[in-house]
Amino acid sequence: MEFKTIIEPFRIKTIEPIRQTTRRDREAALRDAHHNLFLLKADDVLIDLLTDSGTGALSSAQWSAMMRGDESYAGATSFYRFKKAVQDITGFEYIIPTHQGRAAERILFGTVLKSGDIVPNNTHFDTTRANTEHQAAVALDIPCAEAHQPDLEAPFKGNIDLDALVRVLDENQGRVPLAMITVTNNSGGGQPVSMANIRAASKICHDRGVPLFLDCCRFAENAWFIKTREEGYADKTPLEIAREMFSYTDGATMSAKKDGMANIGGFLAMNDHDLAVRCRNNLILTEGFPTYGGLAGYDLEAVAVGLHEALDEDYLRYRTRSVAYLGDILTNNDIPIVRPPGGHAIYIDAKNMLPHIPQSEYPAWALGLVLYVEGGIRSVEIGSVMFGKQPDGSEKPSAMELVRLAFPRRMYTQSHVDYLAEVLLYVNTLKERIRGVRIVQEPSVLRHFTIRMEPACGTLVAD
Ligand code: F0G
Repeated sequence: MEFKTIIEPFRIKTIEPIRQTTRRDREAALRDAHHNLFLLKADDVLIDLLTDSGTGALSSAQWSAMMRGDESYAGATSFYRFKKAVQDITGFEYIIPTHQGRAAERILFGTVLKSGDIVPNNTHFDTTRANTEHQAAVALDIPCAEAHQPDLEAPFKGNIDLDALVRVLDENQGRVPLAMITVTNNSGGGQPVSMANIRAASKICHDRGVPLFLDCCRFAENAWFIKTREEGYADKTPLEIAREMFSYTDGATMSAKKDGMANIGGFLAMNDHDLAVRCRNNLILTEGFPTYGGLAGYDLEAVAVGLHEALDEDYLRYRTRSVAYLGDILTNNDIPIVRPPGGHAIYIDAKNMLPHIPQSEYPAWALGLVLYVEGGIRSVEIGSVMFGKQPDGSEKPSAMELVRLAFPRRMYTQSHVDYLAEVLLYVNTLKERIRGVRIVQEPSVLRHFTIRMEPACGTLVAD
């Protein structure tokens, strides 16, 4: 007999209590946090879906590997284990550890970009965009056409637009030091990129002498979607698929806080020796010696083990299934989400759910606040607060107003997901009464982290 229920493929060995709060507690906490979910104390949150980054549970194998962490300043054995694991999966020659993904981005872009350069990408994540713009270069998003239709069911909505890539490279010769593909496409709904798309983008870039890098934070989830959705890959392992993905590219930036299954860590990897030397020099300035890159030896050990755990089929099946389970409940109850559900998160389409709130009153931000007040759920806005501020200081509404519910790895169980569904269905019954928000005070870059907001008409949910 084959049973249908997909169980969490692990048992729980250590637990962390969740503090229960009331609606009144949460209203007060939100006021103290200036109506910004980033400014809440985590202890005031019941289910924290702010991010899947660094928030997952470690395995017993990772904890035991961490005990053998070698904290030598130079040449630690932990580094060599880390390097071996990264090389085994990516095939890249030069492996530079960093404390997290954005450090890899800063080092790479700080080394290769100059003012006026252009970096095409399916969709830049906020830190990738900010690090590109920090070099006075242009972060150009060229997702495929399907990416713009949230409710369209298509297997690889994370693909890069290949025609646009050709155009950008041909029209800007000498101004594109590298192109990037983000797997999965986080800002575009956690949607995967097909092997065919990576292969074709690689040919386009290499025919023109432009290196292609992967922003590979969620490479294992992407490999799983290729296995389950792309013809010819059903019998391959996620590891084989990941190796093929990397084989078409010249390097990668990685946040090991995602598919590295670690609480901290990342890397920059590449095949170009001269570039690696320049990047290492840049690394030493701010991150540390090249065999630890801002990490403790035990962090390197956690990543070395975690990278392979992320490629485990039972784990990937359970993970994508729990995200899809919530997504399907929402779809069946007419709550608009980016379809199909992504690998690490559900993205609620707030523009569609709350059409009465104009983008100038940030509907996704407002919905996120209501989910917190009603159910203690912390989400993140991926909309006009995160992306609306232009480098010249002007304001441009973003294409989509999304509320992302990101699932930490191996952290929550089925009953947590059932609770999430119950809260979301309840909030859906209030939707006509939800009101917009306005900005009180904002910083000049990455404003969403510290911005202060308030309800535009004095209340989040009208009577
Ligand atoms: N690239 C992508 C696609 C990401 O999703 C992130 C982080 C980064 C780069 C930067 O990595 O945080 O280690 O410096 N994303 C987190 C998120 C923060 O919530 O999606 P980092």
